[in-house]
Amino acid sequence: MVKVGEALVHLDVDEEEAPPTIRTETIVEEEEINVPRDKETPVGTTKHKLSKAVLTTPAVRRIARENHVDLSLVNGTGAGGRVLKEDVLATLSADEAANPAVNSISHPEVPMAAAGHLRTTESLEPTHIKISGVQRLMVKSMKASLAIPHFTYCENVEMDAVADLRTRFNAQSAHRLSFLPFVIKALSLALYEFPLLNSSLSPDEDSLLMHCEHNVGVAMDTPRGLVVPCLRRVQDKTLLQIAEELSALQSLGASGKLTEAHFSGTTITVSNIGNIGGTVLSPRITPPQVAIVGLGRIQNQVQLPGVEGSAGSAKAVKVMSASWAGDHRVLDGATMARFVSLWKSHLEDPLLMLAQLK
Ligand code: COA
Repeated sequence: MVKVGEALVHLDVDEEEAPPTIRTETIVEEEEINVPRDKETPVGTTKHKLSKAVLTTPAVRRIARENHVDLSLVNGTGAGGRVLKEDVLATLSADEAANPAVNSISHPEVPMAAAGHLRTTESLEPTHIKISGVQRLMVKSMKASLAIPHFTYCENVEMDAVADLRTRFNAQSAHRLSFLPFVIKALSLALYEFPLLNSSLSPDEDSLLMHCEHNVGVAMDTPRGLVVPCLRRVQDKTLLQIAEELSALQSLGASGKLTEAHFSGTTITVSNIGNIGGTVLSPRITPPQVAIVGLGRIQNQVQLPGVEGSAGSAKAVKVMSASWAGDHRVLDGATMARFVSLWKSHLEDPLLMLAQLK
């Protein structure tokens, strides 16, 4: 005699494509109890009945298990009463119709970064996630960006000198410098010579607003998605001040405490994806700005003699690929090339940059 709650037979194997197997589902006493459905309450158990042997495949059993469907209560429409995948899905639909209050619970907001981790099963419908928060802002700003006729300009920058300086500084100081403060300061110095890159086009495309402040937006990857807070008045700041502000903004971004004020007034943007990966980007400008740079991963490359002015033997150099995008209504390729060349020279020989710091 088999006790309540015990299985009678258990014959199936765990192969996806295995042949149908017979297995009895848990025996329960026959009684009628109306229970609200939750994760622990299998679909179909609003009426408890004695179970029967179930003929089906392991794949169908898995679908049933994942969706909390009691197979012994599913009408098998296959040969000899075999339960097919469609039968399980039909039971699920019927249950949804019968329990609308339970099943209409809206999906929680899933951050974009987490959306990719949603587990999917062949038998499940796609999940709907409401676009909101940071992602909603991204939809808005990227749609606005479509109105800008972009052109892209890529350049390699040798970062050995900055890397050396940074290593020496970090070894001696309680403060820490990443590559970004150098990139941002060099950008600010180059903007003095090429103020057009720090301008905005009026909405009627009739005039340019030439900004005096170098307010640099920095793209940040946060648990809530991409945010671009602004580092204000970079022209007046030291490398250390830039580093400290960056770190403060990163902390605020990580804890979701950036406010509207942190995002306003940006005149040009830097997006460093290199700490994550990648080399060449196609960054998008956020209006009313007219330029943005995307920085790729700094990589060791072999430089052959005679290339880019190097003499002697082949040597290893640290190269960062920088992808600039400009608004072609305001900037032309030659202006961008000259500007980038100046910015690059500050990074490749930081002495030039340090000499100009206040
Ligand atoms: N190439 C190689 N390594 C890099 C790098 C690059 N371009 N940029 C940074 N790194 C390294 C840093 O040196 C650091 O290593 P270390 O601890 O050994 O010194 C490590 O990566 C972490 O860098 P971090 O201090 O976070 O970098 P940062 O100050 O340069 O950048 C942010 C800060 C906020 C920009 C960065 O964390 C971030 O969020 N990047 C993603 C931006 C993004 O999503 N852009 C895409 C927009 S579409």
